[in-house]
Amino acid sequence: MSFWNGKQIVIGIGGGIAAYKSLEVIRRLREAGAMVVPVPTPAGLRFVTELTLQSLAGGPVHGELMQPRQPGEMDHIRLAREADLVIIAPATADLMARMAAGQADDLLTALLLARRGPTLAAPAMNPAMWSHPATQRNVARLREDGVRMIGPESGALACGESGEGRMAEPAAILEAARRALTPPILAGRRFLITAGPTREELDPVRFLTNHSSGKMGWETALAALRAGAEVDLVHGPVALPPPPGARLLPVTTAGEMHATALKAWLEPRDGRECDAAILTAAVADYRPAQRQPEKIKKEHEEPEMHLTLTQNPDILAELSARANGRQVVCGFAAETGNALERGREKLARKGCDLLAINDVTAPGCGFGSATNIVTLIGRDGWQESWPLLPKEEVAERLIRALHALLGQRHQT
Ligand code: CTP
Repeated sequence: MSFWNGKQIVIGIGGGIAAYKSLEVIRRLREAGAMVVPVPTPAGLRFVTELTLQSLAGGPVHGELMQPRQPGEMDHIRLAREADLVIIAPATADLMARMAAGQADDLLTALLLARRGPTLAAPAMNPAMWSHPATQRNVARLREDGVRMIGPESGALACGESGEGRMAEPAAILEAARRALTPPILAGRRFLITAGPTREELDPVRFLTNHSSGKMGWETALAALRAGAEVDLVHGPVALPPPPGARLLPVTTAGEMHATALKAWLEPRDGRECDAAILTAAVADYRPAQRQPEKIKKEHEEPEMHLTLTQNPDILAELSARANGRQVVCGFAAETGNALERGREKLARKGCDLLAINDVTAPGCGFGSATNIVTLIGRDGWQESWPLLPKEEVAERLIRALHALLGQRHQT
C-alpha cells in the first residue's frame, strides 16, 4: 500500500505565478492515493481556476466562495485540524506575513490559525521580496511556530529576474511533505550508505561494471532521511535524482568507494560519528591488474584475449572489523541459489551485524526491478523473511530493524 493512501492533505494556494506548479503537486498526491482539498486564497484563484483545481483534486474547492457564517464553514475548519498535513504552495510574502501575524482574514488563514498539526510552506516570490528583512522575520516566526519550509530555490523566475525565490519543484515538495509525516526515529543519527555499481577501467574507453541501478541504496537513503538521519551517500555512477538532503559522495572505482566510505566511517563530522552503515553497493570484486593508458588494440592474429584481474578491498568486511562496538553494519547479499545458507556464511565471513539477502533469480527481484524479496538475518541465527515488496518498503523495514538494533546497543 502506498504511503499516501488515505492521507488527507489540504493544499493552500497563495496568489503567485508558482500556483501553476501546485497543480502538479495536487496531481501527484492524488495519483499516489491521497485525498486532496484545495483551499486557494482569493488572489490564488486569479492564477488558477476553481474548475482546474476541482478537476485535479476530484472534489470541491474551498476558497473565496465560502462566506463566513455559512453553514459548512466549521466543517472546513475541522478538516484543517484533522488533515494529516497542510501544504501551502505557493506561500507568498503577503500570505506568510498574514500567517505570522496570526491574521484570519480569509478562509485559508482562518484554517491555518485553527491548525495544530504538521504544516509545510513552499515560499515563492521575487528575490528582493524574499531577502527583505520583513519576509525573513516572518519566515523565522513561522518556523518558531512549527511551520516547516521547503525552498525557495535559486534560479530563473517568472518576473524575469534570477535569484533565490523560485518555488521548490513538485517532487521536492512531495518529499518534504512525506518527511513532515514520518516519525523522526533516527533524529540525531548519522548513517553511511553505499549504492550503485562501481566501474573498473581497462583503458581510456572501456570498463568492467555490473547491472546495479542504485535504486535499493537510493530508497534506503530516502528512508533514513525521512526518519531524520543525516546521510552520507557514497555512490557509483547511477542515473537517479539525488535524494534531497543527502551528503553525496560520488565515486567511480571500488578503490575510491573503499577510501571514501572508510573515511566517513572513521572520521566524526561536526563531532558526530556514523551510527550505522548500510552497504547496498554492487562493488566489483576485481579490477584489471593494470589500467592501460592507451586504448587496447585488437590483436588480429589472436582469437582470445586474457585479462589479469586483482581483488578489490572488501568494504563491508573492513567497516565491520573497524566498528567501535556502538556502530551497526548491515550488508546486502545478492545470491542465485541456496540464498539463506550462503547468506549465513557471508555474514560470518564479513563480520557484519545484519545481512539483507535476496535471491536475484526470483521473479520480481534483482537489478533494476522496483520490488525485492528479502530475508534479513542477524547474528545468533536471528532472521526475518519479508514477502515481495516495493524496494521503498524494504528500505523502510530495514531502517526500522537498524533503529531497533541501535536502541539495544545504546542501552547496554
Ligand atoms: N561488498 C563490499 N566490498 C566489496 C564487495 C562487496 O563492501 N569489495 C559488500 C556489498 O556492498 C554487499 C556485500 O558486500 O553489501 C555482499 O556483496 P557480495 O557481492 O554478495 O559479496 P562477495 O563478497 O562479493 O561474495 P560473492 O561474490 O562470493 O558472493
